[in-house]
Amino acid sequence: MNVVHSIRDLRAVLAGRAPIAFVPTMGNLHEGHLALVDLARQRCGTGGRVVASIFVNRLQFAPHEDFDRYPRTLEADCRLLEARGCDVVFAPDEAELYPEPQGYKVVPPPELADILEGAFRPGFFTGVCTVVMKLFQCVRPQLAVFGKKDYQQLMVLRGMVRQFALPIDVVAGETSRADDGLALSSRNGYLDDAERAEAVNLSRMLHTVRGHVRGGDCELDAVERRALEVLRERGWAPDYVAVRCRHDLQVPDAAQLAAGEPLVALAAAKLGRTRLIDNLEI
Ligand code: PAJ
Repeated sequence: MNVVHSIRDLRAVLAGRAPIAFVPTMGNLHEGHLALVDLARQRCGTGGRVVASIFVNRLQFAPHEDFDRYPRTLEADCRLLEARGCDVVFAPDEAELYPEPQGYKVVPPPELADILEGAFRPGFFTGVCTVVMKLFQCVRPQLAVFGKKDYQQLMVLRGMVRQFALPIDVVAGETSRADDGLALSSRNGYLDDAERAEAVNLSRMLHTVRGHVRGGDCELDAVERRALEVLRERGWAPDYVAVRCRHDLQVPDAAQLAAGEPLVALAAAKLGRTRLIDNLEI
């Protein structure tokens, strides 16, 4: 496995015609990331090249967020990636990826990017789109893999690829979970033992919401409100619980509900200092 830190070295090791499957990450890798690497390998075959990037992207963190304390574990990450058969790790530092202030940005449409996560993290998806566009230019993959764990991010990036006609297949990986159902996340490491035991209730709540909606409860506002109350009673500070159409993340209308529109329940909530997100397709 090659570990490269500069765009120049990356382009040198990727020269040639083998198809490239790309998994962008911010590192501190867990089984969720590694399952995406497996999926990348499956899709590009043994003749293809699997590239993972590790870069904690300052542009997608607000000033009060956890950029400084975000875990940086490059050596351990590289060992995990090598064991999983990754071919190339691209781990630039900030001066390499942002040698000058990034004045040009990719701004996703507000109807998709300023709702849900975007409403609570202004500018987040602009930061994500900008770095992913730049990483795409560096790696030039034919295929890129993203996790459904970050459902809205996946939708926003799919839209970017489509509207800019980028010649890249976007592949979605299912959410990897701990045995108790908690979605794996680098931020789970911030939780103390009591918080870790409680954290499972975010995914449990989503299952309850799914049960109500599948059972024919069409009062989505009430379902969402009840879920928020349950979380608050358990000591969480929820940002949102929302049942949305899978294809555009908008609020389903009565006709869509009646027609069996595919839905997804999404949630974000803080437990202590740690903000967790999760979602469940209904
Ligand atoms: P990061 O949070 O490191 O996630 C990298 C990729 O792993 C994303 O596609 C994310 O959806 C996926 N992922 C994380 N946890 C997962 C889980 N439990 N199951 C399945 N997939 C999971 O998302 C980012 O980094 C950044 O925003 C990035 C796209 C790299 C841009 O900076």
